[in-house]
Amino acid sequence: MNTQVIKIDKNNIDHDEMKKLGKIIANGGLVAFPTETVYGLGANAFDDQACKNIYIAKGRPSDNPLIVHFADIESVEETVWSISEDAKKLFHCFSPGPLTVILKKTDKISNTVTAGLDTVAVRIPSDIVARELIKASGVPIAAPSANLSGKPSPTTSRHVIADMNGRIDAIIDAHDCSVGVESTIVDMSGKFPVILRPGGITFSQIKKILPNAVIDEHILSGSSKDEKPKCPGMKYRHYAPDADVTVVEGEMHNVRKKINELLSENSNKKCGILTLGQASYKAGLVINAGNNNKEYAKNLFKSLREFDENNIDIVFAEFIIEDDYSLTVKNRLYKSAGNKVIYV
Ligand code: TXA
Ligand code: MG
Repeated sequence: MNTQVIKIDKNNIDHDEMKKLGKIIANGGLVAFPTETVYGLGANAFDDQACKNIYIAKGRPSDNPLIVHFADIESVEETVWSISEDAKKLFHCFSPGPLTVILKKTDKISNTVTAGLDTVAVRIPSDIVARELIKASGVPIAAPSANLSGKPSPTTSRHVIADMNGRIDAIIDAHDCSVGVESTIVDMSGKFPVILRPGGITFSQIKKILPNAVIDEHILSGSSKDEKPKCPGMKYRHYAPDADVTVVEGEMHNVRKKINELLSENSNKKCGILTLGQASYKAGLVINAGNNNKEYAKNLFKSLREFDENNIDIVFAEFIIEDDYSLTVKNRLYKSAGNKVIYV
């Protein structure tokens, strides 16, 4: 398939181009687009075949449902049973933005989108280009992250082109994602709010609005394939670069000492080290992911892809401080490492 790569400047949006892109979606095509979290791979959420094509383009297991992106709360109300007062509070505080809410669906949304569940994941993105695309297409847009299944989520158009060129109709070549990690998913379809995936909004931010919110137990552990986690995506290996990843977790001095030992043990391999803040190591390609976990979350996927671009064999990732954002980082890091964690 010939993929059109179309440049869009968020500060000077070409509305004719956006109309063309909207038409591709409305007519059943696939378009990758920026959001504030990660790039998404979009299709008309009302078009069953188009949504099936998303799974094919990504190589995604068909039991892993998609998030539906809306421009505003009014259009959400047309496709879900009802929005509870608590769910409204969440939307009011964090939307448009990096929040996804699970709600009971109506028949308007196809079973392909929800992988047969009676709930639907709803998100109102804040990214201006994402919003313009939804408006131009005139329909809600079902979109997973625009990476090949299992790979780190794309936070620049370059990542999307690397994974999706030749597999979809169009890629919007625009700005880098400002949050860099996916939305926080809150299940509001049950008796009390459950956080199914930590993301751009922290647990304590959610707790402030809904004090009875809890964190799903699978978030860090992952789960075995035969269990039925609430968030089907949680049972799959995720965010994995070609390089082998090991997380080294603990107090900074111990973490750095341990990684230096690991570098010696692996001196025959090309090693990479992902650090929290400035660090000097005796060997290997060092990428500083930032000075706190919010920056680490933003740079994590980009850095994992950078290690692959440099043909690194093994990555040692520092995980040091606990703060509001540490759950988001930990969840992505542990998954990219396939739960290989050394505690020191
Ligand atoms: O920030 C984001 O959320 C990005 C951008 C593109 O919006 N999207 C994203 O989609 O991360 P994806 O497909 O990579 O992850 C969606 C997650 C999956 O783990 C899936 O299992 C879960 O949401 N999910 C979707 N529908 C669900 C539902 N009805 N109930 C529970 N989990 C659901
Ligand atoms: Mg994804």
